[in-house]
Amino acid sequence: MSEIYYPKKEMFTDPLIKNMCEYNDLVEEFEKDYEGTWGKYAQEKIDWFKPFDRVLNEDDAPFYKWFEGGELNVAYQCVGRHLKTKKNKAAIIFEGDNGDQRTLTYRELYYEVNRTANLFRNKFNIKKGDRVVLYMPMIPEAAISMLACAKLGAIHSVVFGGFSAEALRDRIIDAEAKLVVTADGAFRKGKPYMLKPVVDEALEEGCDCVEAVCVVERNGEDIHWEAGRDYAYNELVENESVQCEPEMVDSEHPLFLLYTSGSTGKPKGVQHSSAGYILWAQMTMEWVFDIKDNDTYWCTADVGWITGHTYIVYGPLAAGATTVMFEGVPTFPDAGRCWKMVEEYQINQFYTAPTAIRLLHKMGVDEPAKYDLSSLRILGTVGEPIDPAAWKWYYEAVGNSNCSIVDTYWQTETGGHMISPLPAATPIKPGCATFPLPGIVAEIMEEDGTPTPVGEKGFMCITKPWPSMIRTIWNDPERFVKSYFGDCKKDGKAVYFTGDGAMMDEDGYITITGRTDDVINVSGHRMGTAEVEAAVKKHDNVAAVAVVGKPHEIKGEGIFAYIVLKDDEGVADELETMKEINTIIKSEIGAIALCDDMAFVPDLPKTRSGKIMRRILRSLVKGEAITQDTSTLEDPSIVGIIEDILKKEC
Ligand code: WT7
Repeated sequence: MSEIYYPKKEMFTDPLIKNMCEYNDLVEEFEKDYEGTWGKYAQEKIDWFKPFDRVLNEDDAPFYKWFEGGELNVAYQCVGRHLKTKKNKAAIIFEGDNGDQRTLTYRELYYEVNRTANLFRNKFNIKKGDRVVLYMPMIPEAAISMLACAKLGAIHSVVFGGFSAEALRDRIIDAEAKLVVTADGAFRKGKPYMLKPVVDEALEEGCDCVEAVCVVERNGEDIHWEAGRDYAYNELVENESVQCEPEMVDSEHPLFLLYTSGSTGKPKGVQHSSAGYILWAQMTMEWVFDIKDNDTYWCTADVGWITGHTYIVYGPLAAGATTVMFEGVPTFPDAGRCWKMVEEYQINQFYTAPTAIRLLHKMGVDEPAKYDLSSLRILGTVGEPIDPAAWKWYYEAVGNSNCSIVDTYWQTETGGHMISPLPAATPIKPGCATFPLPGIVAEIMEEDGTPTPVGEKGFMCITKPWPSMIRTIWNDPERFVKSYFGDCKKDGKAVYFTGDGAMMDEDGYITITGRTDDVINVSGHRMGTAEVEAAVKKHDNVAAVAVVGKPHEIKGEGIFAYIVLKDDEGVADELETMKEINTIIKSEIGAIALCDDMAFVPDLPKTRSGKIMRRILRSLVKGEAITQDTSTLEDPSIVGIIEDILKKEC
């Protein structure tokens, strides 16, 4: 796979970073004067209401503060300020699952955001710092609500629409949300599905913090209305003024929380800042996607994930771009849906996950050839490593061997891209995220900071703070320090550890090798083993469980559960028990956490101190030879027993 693909220079007119010399110069500029260079970009890119007086404050590390003294408003940065030059330009193009289309110009978006912010403020008493949970489908009102919160300095927390009532409730309670914004439901594969009933169920218990539910109409299905609590967005918003004063916030004021899974315990509320976050969202939009004024850009993610936050809403709008929002699924009505949309909207940058590429490849190898995809310049991937077969098809069949593929490596916690090719500059090796972006000091090292030798696997760390980094875990600063600054040190100082392993080749190219912790990457989404296990344990007949990732053709990794039953005599039908367990997972977390497969075993491999040896379980499910030392196990014979059970089932 050491084949190198050079950018097709004719695809790019006036990119910000033209070649590797310019890349190196920029890296050097940051090296020479880290704070000064960040300060320069912050001054140039952000429309400040009050200029900042300090670039970086490290006094309370790792609680870093960026651009202190500065005041801004993120909604102004994304919408308001563009009215001067782009009022009639399309800001958001919406395409519904059912074929609905709607375009909002920057001026229309400005009015909608203002009306919505006024509604939140006047009707629901939302003020600076209040938390608002958004449980929304992929409709413009999701972006409008996020921006309305930003306009008021309220902190939004978007919960992915696929999460269950239970998961939604946990997040509402942890964030102490005052308002929940949702929709009746939306459409998927031509049929309506519902969201509001999930909110109703979530609010049945323990959510006293919630004062109101604001419901957007999307699919028009009948829903339950709780008098005095539920309000119809569409009727109320009409009466609000299209003018709304932005609430100025400090640079460090939290813009949003986004819950993500860790290796232990409950999901963590990752807290992002206003200035640092929006600066990097905008800069990476310009560098990595080479956004130009006439471009139409489409990222297929859901706003419920960080990719949707940074690269559907905040990044594109801060950069003044046209961003496409798609409600449906890429395979409906057929595997040509995406390519049809690329042709219709003349998409220039298309950004998706390897899992979608694998699925579209499998379902329609020849589909892309049926459409005119010549508008495409850049193809992006994110969320998990991309395998050679998927990469090649994406490059040749979708990109006509002309487009640059940007394999962007980053995380919910990093706010924006960390390691990625620059489309007009970086010679690409398939499957490689290539080099850290200028300003990002990403290093592969051992726990003590020694650089990992070329060709060997080490810890992927980011050794200097960067503006869009996570600020803390909501309500749990100790967990923040422990989760990210506990494992690796450089020059005696704790540095940010991503949780990923990585490898560098002799040319300095970085390949991400995947999580080193108990996090499973299902279709590019993080699932914590502890969370899934907690759900499985709720089944009456489960005595013990261990969940691991198992390679999956489409999803990258699927979830595999080893289950010890309390009473396996009475279980006549294992399939029935599996179904029951998955039903519990669905209601505790959501369909994304369903187990693809399970094995019922007499016991789990445990050390004498009772610790489950997950590494052995991971190797077993992959059919790998067991190289680990099993002599420390309480009962070493269990390994062979489990091996036999797995063989029998395959
Ligand atoms: C984890 C972060 C960042 C938005 C989507 C996922 C994995 C992410 C890549 C990539 C290999 C990748 C890592 C990371 N990951 N991008 N280009 N190549 N792995 O966000 O849910 O916070 O997950 O996704 O393991 O730690 P997330």
